[in-house]
Formats: sequence, C-alpha cells, structure tokens
Amino acid sequence: MSDIPPIGVFDSGVGGLSVLREIRKNLPAESLLYFADQIHVPYGLRPVEEVRDYAIAITRYLLDKGAKLIVVACNTASAAALYTLREMFPDVPFVGMEPAVKPAAEESRRGIVGVLATPATFQGKLYESVVERFAKHVVVLQDTCPGLVSQIEKGELASQETREILERALKPMLAKGIDRIVLGCTHYPFVIPLIEDIAGDDVRVIDPAPAVARQVGRLLKKYDLASQSDAQGKMNFLTSGSVSQFERSLQFLCNEKWVVRGVRWQNGRVVDA
Ligand code: DGL
Repeated sequence: MSDIPPIGVFDSGVGGLSVLREIRKNLPAESLLYFADQIHVPYGLRPVEEVRDYAIAITRYLLDKGAKLIVVACNTASAAALYTLREMFPDVPFVGMEPAVKPAAEESRRGIVGVLATPATFQGKLYESVVERFAKHVVVLQDTCPGLVSQIEKGELASQETREILERALKPMLAKGIDRIVLGCTHYPFVIPLIEDIAGDDVRVIDPAPAVARQVGRLLKKYDLASQSDAQGKMNFLTSGSVSQFERSLQFLCNEKWVVRGVRWQNGRVVDA
C-alpha cells in the first residue's frame, strides 16, 4: 500500500481523525492507514462483545495491509477490546484510548470533574480502573451525550441540535461546579469550540489526542519502528460506509482532499470493496 509500513488507526467513524491529525503533526514522516467502520457507527450503543469482534477483525485487516503499530483511536473499542487485542497479537504494539481522568483529577482546583463518553466506555473495566486509580479524591460526574456522535458524523458541529445535546449534558455538571471536562470519546474534540462556549473560561477541556500522539512516537522509538525517511508519510483512508461521504468529512474536518477506498464486511471479516 505504501513504501513505509503504515501506522494503522481505527475508529467507528470520523472520531479517530482527532487523533490522526495529532499523529500527523507530531510524526510527519510516518504513513498512516485510517479505517472508519462507518457501517457500524455508533459503537457506543452496541454490546461489548460485538465491538470487540469488530476491533479484532479490523486489526487483522490492518496488519494484513502491513501496519507496524495499531492505534485504537476509539475509547469505546479500547474499552471493549484493548486487553484482548494485546493478548491475541502479542508482537504488535498497540496504543489505545482511556478517558484522561488522571490529568483532570490532578489539575482540578475545585475537585469536581466532568467526563463525556459513550455508555459502552463507562461500562468498561478500563474506565472503572482509571477512576479507581486516579480519581478517588475528586467527584467525577458523567454523561453519555446521547446523539452527539451521530451529529458529528453528519458534520453538524455547531447546529442548534448539537448545542442542545451538549447543554443537556454540561449544564447540570456546571451547576455542580466542575472545572475540568474530559473528552472520553474521540469524536468530541470536533465540538470543543461549542463546549468551551457553553462551559465558559473557568473550565478547561481536556483532549487526550496530543498525549496519545506522543505515546505513538515513544513506542515507535522503543521498538525501532520509526520511519527514517525525510519525505512526508502517505495517507490512506478506508471506510465500510459511504466513500463519498467520508471524503467530504475529511475535507470538512481536516481541510484535506484525501482519497478514500471502500471496504466491506463479509462473514465477520473485512475485505476490499
Ligand atoms: N469515537 C468513539 C469513541 O471514542 C466511538 C463513538 C461511537 O461510535 O459511539 O468512543
């Protein structure tokens, strides 16, 4: 697919692009192969086992295409599958997402933080363990923002409906005094301007993508996998949904005219369309 083995990045849809753009910024010589499983978006309302099966099949596909490291750029898929993926593919370095409760809890002056994530992420052991380890001394408020992932998939980053979803989630938290908001879903960084507008200047929004991109860089070094090329890495995009719609999303969200190829699901496996 490209001369330099790519980093495989996947999400249920456009959310992982918030992670991809940080990786691209930090590691411009790396080639990236992005997989959006848009036929199945949103993942957050699906049973854990189903999301795990998708994550395993997508990982297999990306590895078959030569991926040297896999970024699970989806909190929901990380919650459902990260342990299993590391067990099933012990030779592959994985970087997953977990809600950035740790920095929020450390930084919060009032000791009250809000976390926005999908129902599946909140139900997972990963989230439970993060809160248990790092946030015992603070109050953690949660909301699943029903409908927000679909709004972002549609490109409705600032519509009235999107604002109402966020206000329903944030206003009760703000009334209780939160001063940090953790974005526990990779779709949500695309609505940071709206969140900041609702939350005001006293509240800091925490997007984990920059930290995740730094971790990708560290792992590439550790396993001696970093690209040695001086040229820019290649960008390749795949979707199990509509190719033309995803091309429009790339232009809209990343301001880039990247080409997208289609893939299909066939008997639980991903195949080229
Ligand atoms: N972007 C994803 C996440 O980080 C998935 C959202 C969804 O598909 O429900 O959780």
